[in-house]
Amino acid sequence: MTKPAIAANGLRKSYGDKTVLDGVDLIVPEGTIFSLLGPNGAGKTTTVQILSTLISAGGGQAQVAGHDIAADPQAVRAAIGVTGQFSAVDGLITGEENMLLMADLHHLSKQEGRRVAAELLERFDLVEAAKKPASTYSGGMKRRLDIAMTLVGKPRIIFLDEPTTGLDPRSRHNMWGIIRELVSDGVTVFLTTQYLEEADELADRIAVLNDGRIAAEGTAAELKRLVPGGHVRLRFTDPIAYQAASLALEQANQDDDAFTLQIPSDGSQRELRSILDWLDSAGIEADELTVHTPDLDDVFFALTGGAGVPTQSKEAVR
Ligand SMILES: Nc1ncnc2c1ncn2[C@@H]1O[C@H](COP(=O)(O)OP(=O)(O)OP(=O)(O)O)[C@@H](O)[C@H]1O
Ligand SMILES: [Mg+2]
Repeated sequence: MTKPAIAANGLRKSYGDKTVLDGVDLIVPEGTIFSLLGPNGAGKTTTVQILSTLISAGGGQAQVAGHDIAADPQAVRAAIGVTGQFSAVDGLITGEENMLLMADLHHLSKQEGRRVAAELLERFDLVEAAKKPASTYSGGMKRRLDIAMTLVGKPRIIFLDEPTTGLDPRSRHNMWGIIRELVSDGVTVFLTTQYLEEADELADRIAVLNDGRIAAEGTAAELKRLVPGGHVRLRFTDPIAYQAASLALEQANQDDDAFTLQIPSDGSQRELRSILDWLDSAGIEADELTVHTPDLDDVFFALTGGAGVPTQSKEAVR
């Protein structure tokens, strides 16, 4: 296996007597998208700031791009790009000038700086706006400029702290396309988000941060299996077949109007097989069988103990 792009072990951080991170472990393989989820104040931005060497950890270690964040922060900085939660765009100057400023910071020659800036402005659909003050840009344009500025230094690892917060659905989808494109070029993306749907859509692996610790980590599918709410749904067209099945399947939740039965299940292959075997032996044949797994919202609320736990939908399948 190749070296991970990011590996953190027992990261801690406190402000005064408030513990923000209480031992965070993470591994992000190269060329993948990793998403850190958590409610407001969970410590997502703090984690990004520590891993990108903007602030120091109170404890634990981490390697980013193979370099220790405490021992060799310069080497870490040379390998990464960071798009912060709050825009780094200077509104008083134009988009192009913001880009050229970044090129200067990365010590590119005038000529090379102009070339890279022009290429990125083109790629992020900002050519028309390039000569206008950035303060006149819409939120989505500012966000695109922010990411374009991050890419000037050709980072191998990119930290994106809530890149789509406040964007409309179309801009959000455009941003997803940009992020996927980065990864197809071999870049590693560390993404924080408030949108579960975004993590579900983009991330290879997802970690949920709660109370200063990683409450759960895995693929979206793995996380969904952690919470109840999944079920197998059998639909019948023949009322007589439905009647027979509902008598045989006493533990199922019945919907007599829609001729459907719901059997609680975690959606795993093993449970599915035992349900199918059982239906076979009882001689029940449904017209349609669908597996419903809980969505990431269920996972998020269950793990972070937030208000609004969708208990109703869970009870409905019992
Ligand atoms: N410089 C600081 N001084 C004191 N407390 C801080 C500082 N920075 C962050 N905190 C506290 O640390 C906790 C975590 O903040 P952080 O910004 O990492 O959360 P977050 O998960 O990014 O939240 P959000 O979703 O709102 O962006 C919060 O309670 C915050 O008030
Ligand atoms: Mg934040």
